[in-house]
Amino acid sequence: MIPIARPQMGEEEKELVWSAMSSGALAQGPRVRELEERFADFIGVPHAIATSSGTTALHLALLASEVGPGDEVITVPFTFFASASSILFTGARPVFVDVDEESFNIDVSQIEAAITPRTRAILPVSLYGRPADLPAIAEIAERRGLALIEDAAQSHGAAIGDRRSGSWGTGCFSFYPTKNMTTGEGGMLTTSDPALADRARLMREHGMRVRYHHEVVGYNFRMDDIHASIGLAQLPKLPGNNARRRQIAARYDRDLRGVVTPGVEPGVTHVYHQYTIRVNRRDEFVERLKERGVGTGIYYPIPVHRQKPFVALGYGEQRFPVSERLCAEVVSIPVHPSLTDDEVETVIAAVNGVAEELGTIPTTARV
Ligand SMILES: Cc1ncc(COP(=O)(O)O)c(C=O)c1O
Repeated sequence: MIPIARPQMGEEEKELVWSAMSSGALAQGPRVRELEERFADFIGVPHAIATSSGTTALHLALLASEVGPGDEVITVPFTFFASASSILFTGARPVFVDVDEESFNIDVSQIEAAITPRTRAILPVSLYGRPADLPAIAEIAERRGLALIEDAAQSHGAAIGDRRSGSWGTGCFSFYPTKNMTTGEGGMLTTSDPALADRARLMREHGMRVRYHHEVVGYNFRMDDIHASIGLAQLPKLPGNNARRRQIAARYDRDLRGVVTPGVEPGVTHVYHQYTIRVNRRDEFVERLKERGVGTGIYYPIPVHRQKPFVALGYGEQRFPVSERLCAEVVSIPVHPSLTDDEVETVIAAVNGVAEELGTIPTTARV
């Protein structure tokens, strides 16, 4: 079976992890600082703050943006749960805006109508490795005096022009094992705002700058040096791995038939955390791909506003037609950099074969 993800660990990771373990500095230390500096450089911002996960990076970004009870934060329902649960952690209320059918990202034309006097931040998601329309969102955020917090959990190295995802407002990355780079568990907050970076560091560390002197009630959202060591070995491989993902995606764009493939505007660098197509009769499609040895993933089967905790909060009756349709039609196929050319051929033959058998041309979208 060709799996939907295949995290790669090499000798560099082993050596760095072992040297961190042997050094005795196991908690947040020099390796974390080094990873922060290198990651900030890579994204093109002056500050990066490592965290224990992408979820804690989002939570920390919201806290550092002074989002709290009574506030509203605009985000999308077509995303991983943490984009919205992190807003609830602060006591604020997520306000959902539907996504755009072409990009799978927030529909910028609907943002202004969702802004109220309580809105504090816009939290777009750069889903599957394709950046949201960050220049347009940054313009709205600036004009309306709102924070911009990008959920960049899936978009390490993605860019619009020569500016990287994570460099507009505050970026929040995940280093979960299936991501374009990993630390095991881990995350990173990126920003150009020194005051925000300072608040984030404070809140990450129990609200203390000086040991055992607590200025505010903070959290333990730290990464440790063992996980940072994995990241230090992974980061130099990221550009090459992203290039391989893009090369495989270009083959799929060219050769897949009978399914809706993801389009990208000129000037946008999509890093294909996922290569996500749209089909109808999805369950049969997935089953038949499995019979042909191709693993798939559904990201995501249920929009956030229809998840149990959100239904309990009264969101269940809200309607986001594009998100709901996408949840029924999307399926991701393997695009990870360790795929061999033969495996890429197998995926293409399998998708085209199954699409032809099932006649899976979606009625709701272009082909
Ligand atoms: C879009 C999105 N947001 C947030 C997260 C949360 O990241 P983590 O799993 O590292 O907490 C993820 C990763 O799973 C994600 O894909």
